Amino acid sequence: MSGNANIVANILLGAPGSGKGTQAKRLVETFSLTHLSTGDILRDAVSKGTEIGLRAKAIMAEGKLVDDDTVNGLVFARLLDETSDVLFDGYPRTLQQAQALEDFLSSKGMALGSVVLVDVPQEVLEARVVGRRVCSNNACGAIYHLESKPPKQAGVCDLCGSPLKHRSDDTAEAFQSRMGEFHSTFQPLLGFYKHRPNFRSVDGNRAPELVFESLRHVFGERA
Ligand code: AP5
Ligand code: MG
Repeated sequence: MSGNANIVANILLGAPGSGKGTQAKRLVETFSLTHLSTGDILRDAVSKGTEIGLRAKAIMAEGKLVDDDTVNGLVFARLLDETSDVLFDGYPRTLQQAQALEDFLSSKGMALGSVVLVDVPQEVLEARVVGRRVCSNNACGAIYHLESKPPKQAGVCDLCGSPLKHRSDDTAEAFQSRMGEFHSTFQPLLGFYKHRPNFRSVDGNRAPELVFESLRHVFGERA
């Protein structure tokens, strides 16, 4: 398959716990985009026990990054199958991934859309991550927080009734490792995008509703 040349790829950048997943779920509904979270794709591979999942499981639990070629391969396969514009969440994450995505998009005649950083100070991130609970039903994947967004019934997803779970990398120890990876990769990545006319940054250290309003405005600019 050669891919749909009309596809536009949008990107949400941000540290672990910055709110990419929370915001992406609303943005894709509002703007009819396909949500492509590489974390979700990899967790799905882990839960299905695929070859990639078996390799990625320990790396993810330790808060390290899966290698660029594996992640790029997963993303490009998904893009070739897409018929709607997409919103990446957690990808690209390294300069190599950003360059590979750029090359892939141009080779297929696809376009880069908005690139938006959800900017959150590091000191609030650990509590967000450690207190997060997520729906165990991958098709739902609703995101909660024990304090700021508790489910109506403890341990149960409001939307689909499935049990909630604590991600294996949502420990204080794995969070430190994830932040280490973030700090060693983020500046080159930001340098790649920050002077583009389609780059924006929004303050993610506000109530989710307010963050969403800013993002809705940014994504609305492109419509
Ligand atoms: P991934 O799943 O992408 O994790 P991440 O980037 O660390 O981001 P998170 O999912 O932790 O946070 P989020 O920004 O989505 O925040 P959320 O909305 O959930 O990646 C996991 C792993 O997979 C990586 O470590 C790596 O191993 C591998 N991987 C993935 N992509 C890769 C790639 N491209 N290359 C290599 N390896 C890759 O919110 C967090 C919490 O905060 C929730 O509880 C939520 O309720 C709460 N919250 C959200 N917004 C707010 C707000 N505004 N105010 C208060 N609380 C809020
Ligand atoms: Mg996420």
